[in-house]
Amino acid sequence: MGPSLLLLLLLLLGLLSSTSSLPPPRTSFLLNSPDRPLVLFSPPDVHNTTTLLLSDDGSTLYVGARDAVLSLDVSRSDVIRLKKKVEWRPSQSEINDCQNKGKNATVDCPNFVSVLQLMNSSHLYVCGSFAFSPHDAFIDAESFSMELRDDANAKAKGRCPHSPAQKSSAISVDGELFTATTTDFRGVKPQISRHFSKDGRQDVSQDSSVGLLEEPTFVGSSSDPSERKIYFFFSEVGKEFSFVDELRIPRVAQVCKDDVGGQRTLQNKWTSFAKAPLLCQLPRQLPFNLLQDVFTLRPPEGGNATDTLFYGVFTSQWSSGPESAVCVFRLQDFRAVFSGSYRTFNMDTHQLSSMLGKPSFMGQCGLDSASDSELAEVKKSFLTSGSVRGDPVVVSSEQRYSHVTAMRTQAADGQHYTVLFLLTESGFLHKVALLDQGAQVIEEIQVFTQPQLVKSIVISSSKGVLYVGTSEGVASVPVARCSVYTSCSQCVLARDPLCGWSRTSSACTGVHGHHHGNMAQDLKDGNVGQQCGGGTTSGPVKEVHFHVNEAVRLRCLKPSNLASVSWTSPRFKDLPEKLFIQSADGSLSFLAAADTFGIYRCEAEEEGYKEVVASYDVRLVASRRSIGPFTEENHGTANDDDGSYEDIATEEPTTSTTRPSGDPEVHTTVEEELMLMTNLKKEADSGLRNNKDPVSTPTQKRDAQSGKEKKSYYSELVGVSFLLATCVCALVLGGLHVWRQRKPGLKVSPLVGPEDGGETNRSMESVPSLSRTGPELTVVE
Ligand SMILES: *[C@@H]1O[C@H](CO)[C@@H](O)[C@H](O)[C@H]1NC(C)=O
Ligand SMILES: *[C@@H]1O[C@H](CO)[C@@H](O)[C@H](O)[C@H]1NC(C)=O
Ligand SMILES: *[C@@H]1O[C@H](CO)[C@@H](O)[C@H](O)[C@H]1NC(C)=O
Ligand SMILES: *[C@@H]1O[C@H](CO)[C@@H](O)[C@H](O)[C@H]1NC(C)=O
Repeated sequence: MGPSLLLLLLLLLGLLSSTSSLPPPRTSFLLNSPDRPLVLFSPPDVHNTTTLLLSDDGSTLYVGARDAVLSLDVSRSDVIRLKKKVEWRPSQSEINDCQNKGKNATVDCPNFVSVLQLMNSSHLYVCGSFAFSPHDAFIDAESFSMELRDDANAKAKGRCPHSPAQKSSAISVDGELFTATTTDFRGVKPQISRHFSKDGRQDVSQDSSVGLLEEPTFVGSSSDPSERKIYFFFSEVGKEFSFVDELRIPRVAQVCKDDVGGQRTLQNKWTSFAKAPLLCQLPRQLPFNLLQDVFTLRPPEGGNATDTLFYGVFTSQWSSGPESAVCVFRLQDFRAVFSGSYRTFNMDTHQLSSMLGKPSFMGQCGLDSASDSELAEVKKSFLTSGSVRGDPVVVSSEQRYSHVTAMRTQAADGQHYTVLFLLTESGFLHKVALLDQGAQVIEEIQVFTQPQLVKSIVISSSKGVLYVGTSEGVASVPVARCSVYTSCSQCVLARDPLCGWSRTSSACTGVHGHHHGNMAQDLKDGNVGQQCGGGTTSGPVKEVHFHVNEAVRLRCLKPSNLASVSWTSPRFKDLPEKLFIQSADGSLSFLAAADTFGIYRCEAEEEGYKEVVASYDVRLVASRRSIGPFTEENHGTANDDDGSYEDIATEEPTTSTTRPSGDPEVHTTVEEELMLMTNLKKEADSGLRNNKDPVSTPTQKRDAQSGKEKKSYYSELVGVSFLLATCVCALVLGGLHVWRQRKPGLKVSPLVGPEDGGETNRSMESVPSLSRTGPELTVVE
């Protein structure tokens, strides 16, 4: 099969099946939202704070930045305080050297600290790009002073990359450092190695006589203490698929922590290096083949290490859109694949073929005394035949997630749930609960303003805080803020495993450490009725006042992105639905009239649960219009509506004196009102003429609305015409007024009676269509 044919097949496979995707976030908080505050650390003289390390007690956050390493006091939840800072920058001559090699002095040549590890109880290890010439050092954690080493700079080259743009990974285990990085200036020679080896044993690196790694992008590392192994995670070119060029494959690689290399063959080289493909794929779809980040979720205290899970964020090499997935892998499966069968590298053809049968020593630790022939076999068998399949727990066709961290939590039902925290490329943190019925995005929180290429996230599960590092600074985000849910129903509907409604204190609070019987929480069904009882109150009715014929717009804030809102009113019974327009934002618009004054309630529905979220009593304002000179006149001119256009064109945006200005729930601007009037009057006109529509509610407005959108260009034209017409009309009326005061003899027979009810009724009826105002204007002209 030709490569292009295969690729075509793969692509077709991908296109044929539709992506099942994550539901949208239930609630969203923009940066600096008072409801979901962050604590930010971003002093003007600190940049590229992208390497984070949390101390074991969670009270200190170490930060690798540009030309500096910081120690931040994060023991308080409301402030991040700078404890210590060491400057660590290349000299001017080193920057000149860097520039002379063709690098940009400000972009490439500072020292970007990319490795930060706790080596032992007293010292930190740091490694930075240092003007494209990696340097490393130890830092005394107590005094936060840097201890440069004599043998330093030659060796630092294998510990972190030259280029600040290149990814690498490092992990310290029992005082030894394991790194995966490129080792050369151009960044093309990858290497996994051990440094600062203990007990007099030699440092170990990888055999370079065969290509063990092919253009890898390292994204993470982890340790398996009970098997004494280290795992590295990366994507690389999959040479086993030699027929597809540049096909990248996500991988896990293993080395044994105590490997000391062979005696003659593989001296000071890994005898335990092996790698396996990771598979993150939905049925009948292309696999997500680019690994972005991995988080190791260890079992709870006292648990079996075998239950360790790895959450990997994947994107796809082929997707054009922002697509990503999270797959969960089990340590057991890593262990199984590395003790399974291997492919063999053919030194002559440079092909990898599957090996039949499996020598028992492959992938094992302790091969230092193995025979040369065994090690020769090991040398060319480094890729497993099998792959490690992960379960997709999150698939998003809208978000390109790049980083993940996770925590396990015990919910009110006593069960344990996993909550993922995912960073999007656009600057949001998504909190995703893995519930039995699927992943739910509980909330999204904006944590930085500009899209960031380099960022990191760490979690302190014990303190319940996340730290996000970007080149903008460090932000700390509590894993939950239950108090944003102000009612039992919202608290239960949120289905946040971390939040429950405390029946004793009548507040949404953290579930952790609470007596479960007292907490209302239903992660499975979000059943509010059962959890909260019938005792939910619908809040007070808000009185709002309008003039007759004024455009009314009633706001209704959706309690969540997943809720749908609808309006109810006793008025809907008698009036055609066309008179009421429900906008996409949930607000309801109509013209104030005797028929439409009354009670309106906005109901939100989510998960089958309905709740009134806003109630209005729309009333007639004690009108100053009725005693104004204009109105009296208009009554006489049978042309009530012209007067109201006049009102709208000239009055302040908040038309009623009884309404406080800036009221967020009732808000109209002149433009909005004009547009609305145009629409509403047209609707009212036709609606009241061929009335007798069956009773309907504004919830069924979808079709009417989409129809309206189609006409929106037309209605905009109409709106502009109206504005012009209104101006002309105002002038003319003004003139008329002056003229009539001089000539009292002129009379126009009144269509509108003096009786109040009749007047408002007819004012609805006499709402003009455009064709009717047109002639009026020409008559006057
Ligand atoms: C450092 O931060 C700047 C923005 O302040 C950003 O443009 C640049 O890409 C960052 N460099 C690295 C290596 O992260
Ligand atoms: C280095 O990069 C910056 C930002 O991209 C640019 O403004 C500057 O001109 C570059 N300097 C050189 C010498 O190319
Ligand atoms: C920690 O490591 C540093 C650097 O290797 C060393 O100087 C120091 O003695 C070590 N401290 C302990 C307590 O082992
Ligand atoms: C951990 O679990 C594995 C398989 O489930 C079992 O074989 C092993 O004995 C367990 N280890 C401990 C320490 O319980």
